[in-house]
Amino acid sequence: MQDAAPKPLHLIVACAKNRVIGLGGRLPWHIAEDTAFFHAATAGQTVVLGRICYETWPQVRSEGRHPVVISRNSALAQAGVHVTPTFTSALDLADTLPGKIMICGGERIYAEALACGRPLRLQLTLIHAEIAGDTFMPDWRHLPWRELSRRESADANHRYTFFELSLP
Ligand SMILES: NC(=O)c1ccc[n+]([C@@H]2O[C@H](COP(=O)([O-])OP(=O)(O)OC[C@H]3O[C@@H](n4cnc5c(N)ncnc54)[C@H](OP(=O)(O)O)[C@@H]3O)[C@@H](O)[C@H]2O)c1
Repeated sequence: MQDAAPKPLHLIVACAKNRVIGLGGRLPWHIAEDTAFFHAATAGQTVVLGRICYETWPQVRSEGRHPVVISRNSALAQAGVHVTPTFTSALDLADTLPGKIMICGGERIYAEALACGRPLRLQLTLIHAEIAGDTFMPDWRHLPWRELSRRESADANHRYTFFELSLP
């Protein structure tokens, strides 16, 4: 019997034109529409995230999410929160949990996901501004993405585009 096809990884990220995603452990912007989009897209799903993202998202277990936190510190585990030390072990765990596998960052986790060879979906909010930061989305643009959808939007401070991309 053949192995089942691997579940796709759904990367979800908001990123400035210069690929900035974070500053000082936080988001460098407040875009209410994107926050709402992120919460709706991850509700009920398995979310794979780094230790800093976990520490700054106390409500991660709400709305039926299944968090898989990547950290060497296994003491972070609590009811409903899995902690595992590597990206590979996180995917092994995520494969056993319900829903889509949503890759929520940060930087190294996105880099490993882009390079892992699984089918990918990228839910990208591209903010049309250069924004100061210290954490970056690894470059994704050299990969042969297929665009599934795009929607333009804006708030009082920023213009941004919601893209859904697929590989293959
Ligand atoms: N704009 C967005 O969509 C978005 C998305 C995500 C994050 N962010 C921003 O990015 C920043 C946080 O991301 P970050 O990259 O600094 O940190 P992070 O990935 O959340 O956390 C880093 C820690 O997670 C563990 N870790 C992460 N990747 C690993 C890997 N591949 N293998 C083993 N361990 C790994 C390590 O934990 P231990 O040290 O405990 O072992 C590492 O010190 C914040 O500013 C956040 O707001 C933005």
